[in-house]
Order: sequence, then structure tokens, then C-alpha cells
Amino acid sequence: MARIGDRTCYCTEVSDADVGKRITVKGWAAKRRDFGGLIFIDLRDRTGILQIVFDASATDDFALAESVRSEYVLAVTGKLRKRDDDMINPKLKTGMVEVLAESLEVLSDADTPPFAIDDSGVNEMTRLKYRYLDLRTERMTNITRLKSEMMHVTRDYLHRNGFWEIETPYLGKSTPEGARDYLVPSRIKNGAFYALPQSPQLYKQLLMVGGMDKYYQIARCFRDEDLRANRQPEFTQIDMEMSFMTQQQVMDMSYGLVRELFKKCGGVSLPKKIRQLPYDEAMSRFGSDKPDTRFGLELIDISDLAKGCGFQVFARAVAAEGGSVRMINAKGFVDEDNQILSRRDIDALGEFVKTYKAKGLAWISVRKNGELLSSITKFMSEDTVNAILRRADAKPGDILLFCADKNDVVFKTLGALRLHLAEIGNLIDKSKFDGLWVVDFPMFEWSDEEKRWVAEHHPFTMPHEADIEYLESDPARVRAAAYDLVINGEESGGGSLRIYDRKLQQRIFNILGFTDEQIEERLGFFVNAFKYGAPPHGGLAFGLDRLVMMLAGTDNIKDVITFPKIQNASDMMTQAPTPVDKKQTEELGLRIVQKI
Ligand code: AMO
Ligand code: AMP
Repeated sequence: MARIGDRTCYCTEVSDADVGKRITVKGWAAKRRDFGGLIFIDLRDRTGILQIVFDASATDDFALAESVRSEYVLAVTGKLRKRDDDMINPKLKTGMVEVLAESLEVLSDADTPPFAIDDSGVNEMTRLKYRYLDLRTERMTNITRLKSEMMHVTRDYLHRNGFWEIETPYLGKSTPEGARDYLVPSRIKNGAFYALPQSPQLYKQLLMVGGMDKYYQIARCFRDEDLRANRQPEFTQIDMEMSFMTQQQVMDMSYGLVRELFKKCGGVSLPKKIRQLPYDEAMSRFGSDKPDTRFGLELIDISDLAKGCGFQVFARAVAAEGGSVRMINAKGFVDEDNQILSRRDIDALGEFVKTYKAKGLAWISVRKNGELLSSITKFMSEDTVNAILRRADAKPGDILLFCADKNDVVFKTLGALRLHLAEIGNLIDKSKFDGLWVVDFPMFEWSDEEKRWVAEHHPFTMPHEADIEYLESDPARVRAAAYDLVINGEESGGGSLRIYDRKLQQRIFNILGFTDEQIEERLGFFVNAFKYGAPPHGGLAFGLDRLVMMLAGTDNIKDVITFPKIQNASDMMTQAPTPVDKKQTEELGLRIVQKI
């Protein structure tokens, strides 16, 4: 009789070489087929499936096997044997063999599950409500294992390279990372709150001041922001910080980790060196600071040609401060026989760009016979039209799509249009990985809302040495020693060198408009630490979940977080957040003003 604890192997850890051996396996009944004197049960554990055969003449537990239903938990002992030739299942790893059961123990019975474990059509909300059942599917089990392996490889790589794994508090002080904080009210100090970390940024810098030299943490981070396909309110960073290293050294060390993760966990070979793209170039060529570089359709600036041209929309855009006219040549998108973009599709693109605040989408298409169709050529001289066509290297079958506006609108619009066109034209080879560093980010961004400069990365980022002289006179011109690792158009991680000079930090705070009182109150502990000898340091954090998404081949972050939140930041399974007892809120000194 099989007993709990005497398992000899996992279901798929058997091979031809084990034929004839007696084994004990344990798992869930995935499927049961009854042929009178013979019962077949597919036994499933986290490694996969093994077929068990109950022959009435070979086991005393035949009647028990008859009672087994889907998802019962079983322990089975029997002899491994080769399947008859006509019973071989090439789809299963164990398809050549089966176990002829001698004994069976039912460890748990099970109600009929709300969905069949192998039903791929079941909707996501149901899967999330019963996540523990969803985890039994091959897909979710594989992703869960992949993430575990990636954490293991991460730890191994970083330890090998001299990093220490150091924990930092979850109950801390608000860090200025840009999103809304999750707050935890204090019972001891009513009216005061801890903030869950948006990232361990301040602590990891203090660890460098503390002489820890190389730190990492697989850190849970909390950000109360709107959810998207690649964002969750709690997610995991591979967070790193290093002392006495140059920007290039920090980037090489971090990229080395990603390369090892892709190789060991995904079987994907990334190149030893990847290119670096300055932020300005990323914007002007791709309209994005996280360009997907697996396809072309780059942006082309025609501001010089549009200047003073007969089409007022173009001429006005160029004349305005910070305005431009740019285009994308959608090469081969107008095929008259097999039209990818019909007139109606072009109108739909005109609607699409409006979501990015574009006022319109002008276009010129070149027909097979060389004839032009366009919404705008009638307003322009032949010379201008020809110059535009030449700049676009336009050929029959091409359609040029234009946006004229302030640069930020032009980039947002054409950046999004570029991705949209790639989707329509099926231009992306999804099996390919293309990574690059985006570098030389601007240090500051003007916030129209707050009417002040805000830090593009965070206020502790080091400005480029050559740009320090422009800090006060021309903040827009100052570049930061910040870098993002972009893979397939996704920001997989980002970081920077940090300021370790107190005077420089003070200048940055001044530009950001922080008063001395604000600094003292919010960041006094941090700024003071730098009085006592701070080493040059820098670091980076990868979004672990996003790296897992890439290797798992999913574009839904919920797939790679074991117990994720849904759109409204609630948990389908536990229903969290839920109201609490009045006693609890009283202890915390909180009064609920209004229930939503
Ligand atoms: P940053 O804010 O760029 O940098 O975050 C680092 C990486 O974390 C991932 N990420 C997310 N993943 C899932 N859901 C989210 N809501 C989410 N937000 C961010 C991204 C991102 O690249 N302290 C700095 C790092 C540093 O300077 O060292 C920081 O947190 O992949
Ligand atoms: P209109 O003369 O206003 O009908 O515009 C002619 C064409 O220019 C139409 O295809 C519009 O979609 C397009 N258009 C209008 N404003 C812009 C703009 N800011 N950028 C690009 N195209 C525009």
C-alpha cells in the first residue's frame, strides 16, 4: 500500500530504462476512462502526466479506482511497463510507458471543479477566482517554474559577481518615485502612516553609504497607479546598486544578468554587446523612449520642407515653438490587388491618432502606376511634393502618413501609429528578441500641471558632467546619467548613476522647487547620510515580471504573477481589499467617512 511520503518519483521522471521497476507516484486524477475490466487514469503532478492502468485481475483496489473522479488526489504503486504499440501517445513525455497499478490510495476526494483543468477557453475572471486550480494547468505550472528558475539564476549570477542579498523594510517612508503610495496606518502613532516602498531606492543608496558595495534584492514594490497589461500594483524588481563603478560597468553587469537569464531560462542567445541609443535619437527615429526595433517604419522629419509650404496646417506647425512635421512611410501598405490599407482603413487610422491628441492624419499614397492619391498634395507645390516623396524614398505601393504638431504630440502619435501599423501589417517576428540601451535621458521634464520642472527618472540621478553648467540656465538641455534596457519595445529595467555630492544634490532640489523645509521633512535622513562619506554609486532595477513575460511569451502580466490583482486593483480570489472591523479602525484612529 502506497503511503504519504514514500513517493519514488514525479510522474514524468520515468523513462524506458525504468520499465519493470515498481514505483509509487502521487498526484491528481486528470482523466479517467473506464473500459469495464480496465480503467485508465491520467495522473498529474507538477511535472506532467503518467498513465495508470487498473486491471481488475491485477489489483485488489479496482473498485476503489472505479470511484475515482476528476481531481481526486491519489497515491498509486505499481510496475512501470511499456505500452502496446497501438497505445503509444507521442504527445506525452511519458507516452511510451504506463503503470500497471497494484495498489491505490485516495488521499483526497474532490468536488467537480468549476472548469476543466485543460480547458483553455475558460475566462480569466474564473481562472483568477479559482487560481489554485488554474495553477494546475500545464501553462501556469510552467510559468511558475520559469519564474522560480529565473529568481534562482538571478541570485546565482549576482552572488558570483560579488553582490550581497540585503533586505530593506516594507514599512517605510514614502519614496519619491512618482506613483501614488500605498499607505499603512500606524496603531501606535495614530494619524501617522508608513508607506509601502515604490522601490527600495533610498535604502539601497544608504546601503552604499553603509559600505555594502554591491547590493541586490528581489524586491516587492507597491505603486498605486492605473493597471495596464504590463503593470500591477504590486510587482517584483530585481533591484541592484553598486559602488565605485562607471555607468558602462553598471550597464555591463546588469545586461550580463539578462543575457544569462535568457540563455539559461529561455534558451535564447542574446548578443554579448548591444547598442546604445541616445534618448533624442530614439524619439526622432521611433517616436518612443522604448522603441520596438524589430521592424522599420522609422519616423522621417520633413519640417524643413513643410516650412512655408502651401498647406497651412504644416506651415503653422513648423512655425510654432517646438513644433514639427514628420511622416512614416508605410512601405507596401497600398497594394491595389490585395489592399492592406483601404480608404476606409486610412480613415480609421485618422481616428486612431486622435487618441494621441493629433488633429489629423494627412496622407499621400503612391499607386502602382505612379499616380498619387492624397488628402494634401493639392495644397502644395509640385516641387515640395516631389521633395517629400524623395525623402521618403516612396515607391509604388507606399503610403506616407503625416503628423504636424508640437513635438510631444508628433512623437506620441507617430510612435503609436508605427506600432499599430506593424500589428496591421504583421511585421513583427515574435520569436525574435532585440534589446538596446536607451541612454542620455533628459534630466528634467517640464510639468504643465505643476508649473515646475520634475525629475524624469528621480531626483537622485546624476546629471551628465558636461551639462552641469546649464543646470540653472537651461534645465531642458541637461542630460542625465540614466539608462533603460529596452527589449522588444518594453522597458525591462532602468537605472542611473546617483549624485553623491551634497552641493550638487541641493542644486537639483532647488531646480525641482523643493524648499529646505520640505527636504528636511521628507528626505532629511537621506540627505544627512551624505555628509558622512558617500561613495560614487549607481544601480538599476529590472521588472522581474516583465522579464518573465518575455520568456513565457505572454503580453499579460497577470499570467506571470501567481496571485495577481485585476483592473480595479482587487483580488478575485480573496476579494481584497475588504472592509475591516470597527475595532481595527478605532485602534488605528481612523474614521471611515464614506464607503465606496
Ligand atoms: P523604475 O520605476 O523604472 O525604476 O522601475 C524599474 C522597472 O520595474 C518595472 N516596473 C513595473 N513592473 C510591473 N508593474 C509596475 N507597476 C511596474 N513599474 C515598474 C519596469 C521598470 O523598468 N528605483 C528605480 C530603479 C533605479 O534607479 O535603480 C526604479 O524603481 O520594468
Ligand atoms: P483639412 O484641410 O483640414 O481637411 O486637412 C487635410 C488633411 O490633413 C486631412 O487628411 C487631415 O486629416 C490632415 N490633417 C489635419 N491636421 C493635421 C495635422 N495637425 N497633422 C497632420 N495631418 C493633419
